[in-house]
Amino acid sequence: MAGNPFTIQSFKSAKDKGERITMLTAYDYTTATLLDEAGVDSILVGDSLGMVMLGYENTLKVTMDDMIHHTKAVARGTSNALLIGDMPFLSYHVSVEESVRNAGRFVQEGGAQAVKLEGGQDVIEHIHAINRAQIPVLGHLGLTPQSVNAMGGFKLQGKDIETARQIIDDALLLQDAGVFGIVLECVPSELARIVTEKIEIPTIGIGAGAQCDGQVLVIQDLLGMFRKMRPKFVKTYSQGGDDTVAAVKQYIDEVRSQAFPAQEHGFTMDEKILEKLR
Ligand code: KIV
Repeated sequence: MAGNPFTIQSFKSAKDKGERITMLTAYDYTTATLLDEAGVDSILVGDSLGMVMLGYENTLKVTMDDMIHHTKAVARGTSNALLIGDMPFLSYHVSVEESVRNAGRFVQEGGAQAVKLEGGQDVIEHIHAINRAQIPVLGHLGLTPQSVNAMGGFKLQGKDIETARQIIDDALLLQDAGVFGIVLECVPSELARIVTEKIEIPTIGIGAGAQCDGQVLVIQDLLGMFRKMRPKFVKTYSQGGDDTVAAVKQYIDEVRSQAFPAQEHGFTMDEKILEKLR
């Protein structure tokens, strides 16, 4: 589809111009076409797919092959949005070489333009190496779901002075390492504002208040499709879950009552041929 592609450079210029950046997750071709048509700036193939697409309790079981499979599908449906692949648990923790190879798979096989990874100080050398391979990296601080066990659950981060300072320090380290933006997840809005003011690259908030340079949501949450849990920071823009259940109930009723398929949903045969069949 024609239009102006949103690029890595667009991220920085949006912050400089004070224009909010919009990001949503997608995991399949059809959804990607709709988000792209609506004009979202960036699509993240998040490892949240482990929960909303694959039914896991958290993101830890998601593999590189899962991510590449879904990234390929989303890439086929994306024309203008910047496509970012989310590096799953253990894909950038074992060695720098493995991190670069896995980041490269997102670009070479998946068709992504950038990757996202979670963490601060611990992942800096991996970010440097991925950047040296000319692959742009988006950082992710605050609630980093791949650390769910270490954090003791999905909880607000950066509430006390030590952890708040750590998030600020990590944001500065990530900026120095060359990330083009930082996702801030589930941190107090005041802390997100301080980080946003301290760094020159954009912050993308999710549960981090209105002062971030952009916002990201999981598409199933926005559409009201994922009903197992609904974090406080989610705004539901449509009742997709309720609508789907109602539509499927109506389909079941209509098949049983033979209201569907109606004549217009079928195909007719030439009378003469039909005669010969009788
Ligand atoms: O996996 C994901 O979808 C994410 C976003 C919520 C930022 O990391």
